[in-house]
Amino acid sequence: MRLGVCYYPEHWPEDWWADDARRMREMGLSRVRIGEFAWSRIEPDPGRFDWGWLDRAIDTLHSAGLGIILGTPTATPPKWLIDRHPDILPCDAHGRPRRFGSRRHYDFSSATYRREAARIVEAVVARYGLHPGVIAWQTDNEYGCHDTVESFSPEAAAAFRRWLAAKYGEVARLNAAWGTVFWSQEYRSFDEVDPPNATVTEANPAHRLDWRRFASDEVVAFNRMQADIIRAHALGRDVMHNFMGNFTAFDHHAVGRDLDVAGWDSYPLGFLDQGWDDAATKARYLRQGHPDFAGFHHDLYRGAGRGRMWVVEQQPGPVNWAPWNPAPLPGMVRLWTWEAFAHGAELVSYFRWRQAPFAQEQMHAGLTRPDRVDDVAAGEVRQVAAELRGITPTPAPAKVALLFDYASIWLLDIQRQGRDFDPLRLAFEWYGALRGLGLDVDILPPDADLSGYRLIVAPSVPMADADLAGRLAASDAVVLMGPRSGSKTADYRIPDTLPPGPLGALLGVKVTRVESLRPGIVEPGEPGPVLRWREHVEGAPPERTLHANGRAHYLSAWLAPDALRKVMQGLAETAGLDPVELPEGLRLRRLGDVRFAFNYAPEAVSLAGVAPPDAAYLLGGATLDPAGVAAWREAP
Ligand code: GAL
Repeated sequence: MRLGVCYYPEHWPEDWWADDARRMREMGLSRVRIGEFAWSRIEPDPGRFDWGWLDRAIDTLHSAGLGIILGTPTATPPKWLIDRHPDILPCDAHGRPRRFGSRRHYDFSSATYRREAARIVEAVVARYGLHPGVIAWQTDNEYGCHDTVESFSPEAAAAFRRWLAAKYGEVARLNAAWGTVFWSQEYRSFDEVDPPNATVTEANPAHRLDWRRFASDEVVAFNRMQADIIRAHALGRDVMHNFMGNFTAFDHHAVGRDLDVAGWDSYPLGFLDQGWDDAATKARYLRQGHPDFAGFHHDLYRGAGRGRMWVVEQQPGPVNWAPWNPAPLPGMVRLWTWEAFAHGAELVSYFRWRQAPFAQEQMHAGLTRPDRVDDVAAGEVRQVAAELRGITPTPAPAKVALLFDYASIWLLDIQRQGRDFDPLRLAFEWYGALRGLGLDVDILPPDADLSGYRLIVAPSVPMADADLAGRLAASDAVVLMGPRSGSKTADYRIPDTLPPGPLGALLGVKVTRVESLRPGIVEPGEPGPVLRWREHVEGAPPERTLHANGRAHYLSAWLAPDALRKVMQGLAETAGLDPVELPEGLRLRRLGDVRFAFNYAPEAVSLAGVAPPDAAYLLGGATLDPAGVAAWREAP
């Protein structure tokens, strides 16, 4: 469990570097991430490399005792490269090039950019791959940030056609799969197929789903290209990418298979402010973030990293990019850090060392201020660094698995049917229901090994196939599948047997009709109120939403959060787990033989009924103030 920081030596006078490095060590940091936007300084003119400054920066950080995570600079191709090759620029949904002047201005399908990115990665890794101070590599930075997975460029269109030809072989098969007979959309060759943008009304959903699969595959290929080059030079070093919060536009499990570690960037306050929560929730958790935001992503990305996860950028104070940007409650930076470790993070690294007094992110706090004095978070980091010395537990798998599938998110998003049927929110609410009961959760792709889990829940897997149905039937876990599971084939069609398709035998239901409900409509249901979505299950009374078939259960509605928690509680008890109803805002997490408690609530909470009365606390005590953390040993 290590602490680190993101640092930009190119932003500061060289004679500050050694002092910065010394202060990082003194603060308790042992890792530093650098380099990910520095292309214009590494290669100021085409083919002319300036390594001197980076050599000295790396040596300075290394000799201070910091392990360096070096980023490839491909998120920011320099101006000269764009001017020479404007075909690198991605195109927006109207087909217009997005311009130079910020970042991520490249098209994943650009052959020129693949070549140029490979060239710069090769150059940087050849130079520093075996440097003793460089212990890990970050590929690019936040794939997809600023809506950059899809590009509607001529080159992406050509690549899409090749992707379709490889998938379908003959265009007749594409026509059949997509149902193009509808509205005379039939194609005579793959060359006739365009990306699904700028159509008069909704484009064919199967076309859109294939486009999203294609766009995701382009990200996977781009990342794999970098990972392969890094591995060829940087023997034994970890390859990592920093994923984002609330972001599903490419398949992170697929990218994760080419990484050693899944990293992610945790900004709990920014995401609460710009997210879907109601005004009361945003007010209550204004300075803490949603109690499940960080946990959800820790568990999701630990799954994508096959057990290995880092927080690469941790919010240290107000950010600059949400509509409103409050400061964290005193203690929250410490809480977020401890919570990350409790969820299995090997590293928590803060963004950034010092607030920049210039350019786009000058309103974004760091661990230190532009005047070089410590900012508020620095004290909390010191505290965690001191506390860490006493605790060294090892993670173990949870007993609850939540299935999460990116293609399912795309499919449901393409035809929401109810405007607020947000599939990510559905997954988040299911996760929150489990976490509000004190249960630890592993978030896994549906093809993961599910053995050993006592409770397996799937908020929605619309394209569930016979393989998943078979594995669920063969496991002895209690199973809960959510609305719209099994409702489509991989070609985006309604299954011949009606939903839940291949899950019908397991779940013992047939869905004959679905309806969506506008905001504000709450209808009675059994076991609790229904909003947004309800399904009609053949032979069942209309108010019933929970359908049991032995150990397997189907939930045929979007339940109000309290009702959902009751459902999870009942199933967890059936599964032999030990759910406890936690006070609102309290969250628990077990790491080996240590149980942690985190108080996100703006009021103090008691651990009575949660921690044993005679608990010997490693951190905190039986009452937690706002932003409080407690930890005690428990038999695993
Ligand atoms: C992240 C990004 C960083 C920085 C940060 C600001 O999305 O990776 O480069 O922009 O946000 O919060």
